[in-house]
Amino acid sequence: MIRRIHLGDNLEVLRDAVPDASVDLVYLDPPFNSGRNHVLCARPGGGEAGVAFTDVWRWTGESEAWLAGLRSGGGPRLAGTMAALSLALGKGPMAAYLAMLAPRIAELARVLKPAGSLYLHCDATASHYLALLLDAAFGPENLRSKISWKRTSSHNCARRYGPVHDEILFYTKGAAYTWNRIHESHGEAYLAGNYRADPLHPGRGRFKTSDLTGAGLRRGDSATPWRGYDPGARGRHWAVPTGRKLPGWLPLPRGYGELPVRDRLDFLDSAGMIHWPRAGSVPHYKSYLSESPGVPVRDLVLDIPPLSAASREKLDYPTQKPLALLERFVAASSNPGDLVLDPFCGSGTTLHAAENLERQWIGVDSAPSAVDTARRRMAAAFPGIAVDVAAPPGRGARRGRAASGALSQADPGGSRSARPGTPSEAGARGSRPPLREGRRGR
Ligand SMILES: C[S@@+](CC[C@H](N)C(=O)[O-])C[C@H]1O[C@@H](n2cnc3c(N)ncnc32)[C@H](O)[C@@H]1O
Repeated sequence: MIRRIHLGDNLEVLRDAVPDASVDLVYLDPPFNSGRNHVLCARPGGGEAGVAFTDVWRWTGESEAWLAGLRSGGGPRLAGTMAALSLALGKGPMAAYLAMLAPRIAELARVLKPAGSLYLHCDATASHYLALLLDAAFGPENLRSKISWKRTSSHNCARRYGPVHDEILFYTKGAAYTWNRIHESHGEAYLAGNYRADPLHPGRGRFKTSDLTGAGLRRGDSATPWRGYDPGARGRHWAVPTGRKLPGWLPLPRGYGELPVRDRLDFLDSAGMIHWPRAGSVPHYKSYLSESPGVPVRDLVLDIPPLSAASREKLDYPTQKPLALLERFVAASSNPGDLVLDPFCGSGTTLHAAENLERQWIGVDSAPSAVDTARRRMAAAFPGIAVDVAAPPGRGARRGRAASGALSQADPGGSRSARPGTPSEAGARGSRPPLREGRRGR
C-alpha cells in the first residue's frame, strides 16, 4: 500500500522516484500564474504566517534550461509547442510559467499507465495555453472534458466579466481509459419543477411521473386497453417497467415478469405506483426520487461549493480545494487499489480523497509547510495509517530520517510516520489545534 508524501521539487521527484507507467490517475493543481504570493495564515499557538508559495514568474536561466531539457527529452511535439509559445508570447511571465510546467507535463505523461487519466486544475489565465501543452503531450484526441467549477459567487471586476470559475482539463493517456459513471444530485430548481410530494404515501418521498407507454403501435398483449385507456388510439403501446426497474422495497408477486400486461398494471396500481391526474386521464408511472441515482456528472460543476473560512474541512493552507471535488475526479477516473498522484499536493486534498476511496496515493510539494499540513491532515483524518514522508531527492540521507530533518523548520517534532500517539504527533497536537477530520474519520 503506497501512502507517501515527498518534500521536494516535483520535477526531481518524478524523475527520481516515479517509474514509467506506474500511476493510474494524476491530479495537479499548480500555481495559476496569478502574479502574487499565496500567504499562509498564522495558526493560533503554532505556525507563523508567511508565504506558502510564490506564483510570480520571470523568464530566467532556469526557464532556458527547462526549454533545453524539453528539447532533449520531452518529446518533439511538446518541445516544439513550448518553443512556439515562447516565441509567440515573448519570454515574459506567461512563457516562464508555461516553461516551468511543460517538463512536468512530460514527466506526468510518462508515469501514467495506458488506461490512466490526468486532471489539470487551472483558471482562465493560462488554460488555453496549458491545453496546447497537454494536446502536445497526450494528443488532442485525448482531451475528454474541459470542466468548469464555480469556485466563487462574486468577484468585483469593474471593467470585465467577473471571473467566478476554475477550469479543469481532463485528458486520458489513450482511448481505453478507466471511467466510472458518477452521478450528481439534481439541482433544487429541477427537483422543485419535476418532483412532487405523494400525499397517499408520504413515507416514500417525492416522485415524478414517467410514461407507461412507448411510441409505436404493437399487436397483442401490449396493445390491450386497460381501465378505459387505449394506448393504440394514440399510436402507442404499453411499456410497463420490468421488475429490475421497480424499487427494491416493493414486494413483487411471484413471476411478475411473466404476467400479462394488464395484470402487471393492476399490481402496480394496487401498490400505489400509478398516478392518475384525473379520473379517466392518462395514467403515469411514479418514479420516486429515492430510486434515482441523480444525473450523470456534467462538465459544469455547480453543486460543490468553494470552501469558506467557516467550512468544516478548511485548514489554514491557501488555495485548498474542496474534498468533494477531488472525490468526484478520483471516483470517476480510478478504482479501489489504484495509485493516485498529486505533484502539487498543497494541504493534501487529493490524498485525503484517495484514502477515503481506498486508493493508494503519492503527494509531492516543495513547501515544508504544505507537507506538514498534509501529513497532519492525514493523521487526523485516518488515525492509525502510516504515511511515508520522503526527503527531497539527492540529499543523500535515508528517507525517514532525512524527512524529519527537512521538516524541522515547520515541525520541530517531525516524524516519518503520521501515527497519532507517537511522541512527535502528540507534541504537535499539544502545540496546535487539531485538524478537522475527513469523511471516514468524521
Ligand atoms: C495551488 S496549491 C495546491 C493546493 C491543493 N490542491 C490543496 O487542495 O491544498 C499549489 C502547491 O504547489 C506547490 N508547488 C509549487 N511549485 C512546486 C514544485 N515545483 N514542486 C512541488 N510543489 C510545488 C506549492 O507549494 C503549493 O503548495
